[in-house]
Amino acid sequence: MNLTYWIIAAIKIGFGTWFLALIFRTSYYLFTKQQRSSSSNNVQSILDHRAVASFGVLQDRCLQNRLIARAIPNGRLIDVFGIDNPFTTTSVIIYRRFIQKVGPGLHGTKPEKWLKFFKAASTTLDLILLQFRGVRYSLPLADLARQLVFISILHSFFDVDPKNVNLDDVGIATASINFLWVHSKTAPQWYPLGRRVVLEVALQQILPDKFPCSAEDHPLNIIIPAYETMWRVVLLTFVSAGFRNVDQETADQFRKVIERVPKCFKGKKSKDVRAMAVNFAREGLRLYPPTKRIYRAVPTESQSPPFFTYDEKIADIENCHRDPNIWINPEQFRPSRFLPEEFTDAMKEAYLPFSIAPHRCPAADTFAPHAIIILVVVLAKGLGTLESGSNVRFGNARLDGDRSALLPSGRLDMEDWRLEMKDAV
Ligand code: HEM
Repeated sequence: MNLTYWIIAAIKIGFGTWFLALIFRTSYYLFTKQQRSSSSNNVQSILDHRAVASFGVLQDRCLQNRLIARAIPNGRLIDVFGIDNPFTTTSVIIYRRFIQKVGPGLHGTKPEKWLKFFKAASTTLDLILLQFRGVRYSLPLADLARQLVFISILHSFFDVDPKNVNLDDVGIATASINFLWVHSKTAPQWYPLGRRVVLEVALQQILPDKFPCSAEDHPLNIIIPAYETMWRVVLLTFVSAGFRNVDQETADQFRKVIERVPKCFKGKKSKDVRAMAVNFAREGLRLYPPTKRIYRAVPTESQSPPFFTYDEKIADIENCHRDPNIWINPEQFRPSRFLPEEFTDAMKEAYLPFSIAPHRCPAADTFAPHAIIILVVVLAKGLGTLESGSNVRFGNARLDGDRSALLPSGRLDMEDWRLEMKDAV
């Protein structure tokens, strides 16, 4: 082999290496570019959802226009429930009066209020369980959660004593609200007068001193935003933490939360357990947000109110909460992700169970998270968990066979769920 051979070989190897490096660099660039653009698309999509929720999609964001943009898509709630509240009104006066009226029911942070709430909820569950004495081996979970949350909400906002409530009326009222809500989405073309009358009669039995009343003072104005948002997330958080696959840390935390709520709501020493307990509610709200989508009607041209033609814009909250580019293992129930050291700015931006200003839910900071975890603990203490020997049968082969599968969270998805208590009589 002569020198020329070696020179040609060296040139070939050099060129080959250079060529391979070029291919590698180009593919790497293209790959990371795709990733960069998908993550920036993602950030953009969160910003888009936030813009819808915050009414940033309106040209003029004055209060009057915001109310109109919200009331139009919620019109079906006026049709089925006859409510006149911030979700359905276009009147600035009615809106402001309602926000003021609802304040005292939201409890604030006073510990004694939460201890009282826990006691009322525990009494309520005992009364409900008496009703099911004969069938305790297989309790209808959805019915039970609806009744518990409904009476607890009446206790908070209407000062109702659980012992004075007829559970048959509550069963009728809660089943009717569920029926009417589903009806408003699936068959809005016909008016379910019969069911509406049944609901009205049941409510009059439960809250006699609230009737007769004007549309503005109707108790459903409070019951719908307060109870309707809460019952499914309470049930789903209870089932997720108590009966599905969770990591060891979450299981240990839940045991502690069951043991320490409601006492941890008192005193500075329990601050950490309180935060841990609230994180269970926050994680339930992330994975199963009661308001999955927020709708706004945006005028198509530069029209002033009342709008004649409009586009419907949607903030997809459930999507934001399960985005794998933002949340690690988004389908896993893991309250520790809300610890300050783990909760990133991107997560903060994407976490929208209560919407955002200027119409963020007034129950967001204290009432809803506290009430959710208290009600979850009342259920866990009263019905047990997998660890204590109880079990949930979902009436669905996939959910029964795979404890890691995500739970369905629609209003009719939980009707077959049955809880079997360990020492049922
Ligand atoms: C888990 C519980 C709750 C969730 C997930 C929730 C969610 C929300 C959301 C997403 C909004 C914004 C709606 C929109 O702009 O279209 C909202 C607003 C509101 N919520 Fe809640 N809510 C909950 C509990 C409650 C409770 C207990 C009350 C008490 C009555 C309440 C009263 C209201 C009111 C009055 C507004 C309107 C605020 C405004 O327009 O300024 N919510 N809620």
